[in-house]
Amino acid sequence: METFERLESNVRSYCRAFPTVFTLARNATLEDTTGRRYIDFFAGASTLNYGHNNPQLKADLLAYISADGIVHSLDMATRAKQQFLETLERIVLQPRNLSYRVQFTGPTGTNAVEAALKLARRVTGRANVIAFTNGFHGMSLGSVAATGNRYYRKATGVALSNVCFMPYDGYLGPEVDTLDYFEHALNDEGSGLDLPAAVLVETIQGEGGINLASPVWLQRLAAICSRHEILLIVDDIQMGCGRTGSFFSFEAAGIVPDIVTLSKSLSGYGLPLAVVLIRPDLDQWRPGEHSGTFRGNNLAFVTGSSALEHYWQDEQFAREVERKGQHMHARLLAIAAQWGDPAVTVRGRGMIQALDCQTGSRALAVCRAAFERGLVIETSGARDHVVKCIPPLTIPDDELEAGFAILGECVQMAA
Ligand SMILES: Cc1ncc(COP(=O)(O)O)c(C=O)c1O
Repeated sequence: METFERLESNVRSYCRAFPTVFTLARNATLEDTTGRRYIDFFAGASTLNYGHNNPQLKADLLAYISADGIVHSLDMATRAKQQFLETLERIVLQPRNLSYRVQFTGPTGTNAVEAALKLARRVTGRANVIAFTNGFHGMSLGSVAATGNRYYRKATGVALSNVCFMPYDGYLGPEVDTLDYFEHALNDEGSGLDLPAAVLVETIQGEGGINLASPVWLQRLAAICSRHEILLIVDDIQMGCGRTGSFFSFEAAGIVPDIVTLSKSLSGYGLPLAVVLIRPDLDQWRPGEHSGTFRGNNLAFVTGSSALEHYWQDEQFAREVERKGQHMHARLLAIAAQWGDPAVTVRGRGMIQALDCQTGSRALAVCRAAFERGLVIETSGARDHVVKCIPPLTIPDDELEAGFAILGECVQMAA
């Protein structure tokens, strides 16, 4: 690791948690320079839902490159982009009765969030946005202003404004419906709450500790937004593209957001791509108002189309995610029981499942020990107190089991 310590900025983070030099990767297996293998329970923070170097996606990508398919195009029209748009419409949007315009932003999640916030403010003429406690939306100034974590907020060195935080579902314990306060404040002239342009929400908070919003809470949130003409933005950057079982994570709640942000696994291959899905009448951008050199990542369009064709034409893949997710939940419950502490709990949906260890020191000890035994797994939450299991959705059953065997050993040691 000497090269990285000497030359790479101090800002590097994951290479500290996983201190080895990786060389190869296939599906859920990583390999380092010594030939040592690791099971991947991290999947690039849910960017590799279809595994590393997915063979079907790779074949389509290699064919495109071999034929000198256009790689860079700003936001010019290309065949690869046309196919991606048409595939998204045919396989994802139409079957779900969803009608959205697609905005390609700079290819990072935070850029999609910036664009969504900018558009919501422009359309409504209001500056304020509601975000939630423990929400995570990215590192650029607009997104970090809507991110709860103090560590990231403090790093900006400026006042973060125009965002008001409300308690997420469960933040005040299971007895409190946190939307009571939001609704009350909206209706009360004395609350000090400026009518927001938008509500920005994750259906499950991926970085904030795997906190799940219930379908009922999300439905009530959508109804409040609709009553007050506030735009509902679902940030599906981490939970979208099948992580929770359905393509969009909000499908289970039966809500239809006004705006959706997607990135991470959208290209299916780890290639950068980000979009904002916009209710057509809200698409009030003027040409080029939110631009970016790398909006047209054609290689990502190719693998993105390929991923939709291969995995989302029917229900089979979603059912597999559901099945493996249930198994993961059951395995984690058994592992949690070893702690003998009722405060250690398990939560998740689909193939995002987590062990809440209550303290950062416990969760970090588990993840460190896991890495030493060949399992790549990370913590989540403002206190790093949650062990987050997000393997590729394509992980074979035996590898999933091998990963949980390692995790079980590590918990036994740490408990
Ligand atoms: C929900 C959510 N929104 C936005 C982002 C930011 O994405 P990026 O790191 O690509 O900017 C993330 C990243 O983890 C995320 O989980």
